[in-house]
Amino acid sequence: MPESEILRDLWYMAVPGQQLKRGQMLGKILLGQSLVLGRDANREVFALRDICPHRGIPLSHGQFDGREIECCYHGWRFNCSGGCTQIPSLLPNQKFDLDRVFVTRFPCREVQGNVWVFFPEDERNIPDPLPEIPKIPGIEACHHGLVERAIFPCSIDHAVVGLMDPAHGPFVHRSWWWRSLRSIHQKSKAFAPSHLGFTMVRHKPSSNSKAYKLLGGEVSTEIRFELPSTRIESIIAGRHHICGLTTLTPLADKQIELHQVFYWTIPWLTVFRPLMRPFVRTFIEQDRDVVNKQQQGLNEDPQLMLINDADRPARWYHQLKKEYQQSRTEQRPFVNPVPETTLHWCS
Ligand code: FES
Ligand SMILES: [Fe+2]
Repeated sequence: MPESEILRDLWYMAVPGQQLKRGQMLGKILLGQSLVLGRDANREVFALRDICPHRGIPLSHGQFDGREIECCYHGWRFNCSGGCTQIPSLLPNQKFDLDRVFVTRFPCREVQGNVWVFFPEDERNIPDPLPEIPKIPGIEACHHGLVERAIFPCSIDHAVVGLMDPAHGPFVHRSWWWRSLRSIHQKSKAFAPSHLGFTMVRHKPSSNSKAYKLLGGEVSTEIRFELPSTRIESIIAGRHHICGLTTLTPLADKQIELHQVFYWTIPWLTVFRPLMRPFVRTFIEQDRDVVNKQQQGLNEDPQLMLINDADRPARWYHQLKKEYQQSRTEQRPFVNPVPETTLHWCS
């Protein structure tokens, strides 16, 4: 996986919390690294390198009792912080300092129903305090409504640019319930810099977004992007809130995992969850299919273009990334390169 593409010292979405039951562990490759994710008996989540320091077998093949992982090869035991607690082959009179044996631990937290892992630049130098995990605003009393996932066969940069691209809607997501070609019209949206990214400031949604009409009440939406690859759309409909969290996590080279999580405070929406799922799936699959086709061209490494306002968010993404890396190399605070501005495009 080309390292230059992946930003470090940031949090990445690892799995929806519901995939990790109490006392369970799960092996997963994230950012090209094998991790074992788990939830202990106290419901706390953890992430360790999924390699036994004895002979390298993934610990996720072993047993977990909610407190310790037992390696499946020679039974060495490790606690959820990665410390070795027991080596069964040692005799009582054979002195061995267990503190010398440990598995690397990655900071891991569960926020709003999702498990995030922090990937440090340098494993021996974890920042303190750790940065904040991107949060959905105003959902305390809200339901964790719907989670979908998909794998995009592209680089993280193409995945993010696709995620923030305002001009592909009427072509990729053309359907009776969302967009039609006839509905293309000029749009003007205000943008402002926000934490490690930018925000399309709160506005009434497009008149051609039919699905919004079902919500009733006065509808407004705000879309925020934050490095490395998180997009949060917050829709307010009357007194209710619907939020979409989209995260992109590189698993391996050209393998980006997308999670789309919806939260809402509208009780009746929960009844319609089974009906909503196919729409969400279709939407994600449309994006995935176009990325798949794009790869055919990208394989020949062509020169690409970023034009005018419709591609400005893509340009900002590249600028944000560059500034993030530069500010770290120069050990200075991050200066957001995104201006306060209004962009105009047709979609
Ligand atoms: S390889 Fe894990 S205990 Fe030997
Ligand atoms: Fe899309």
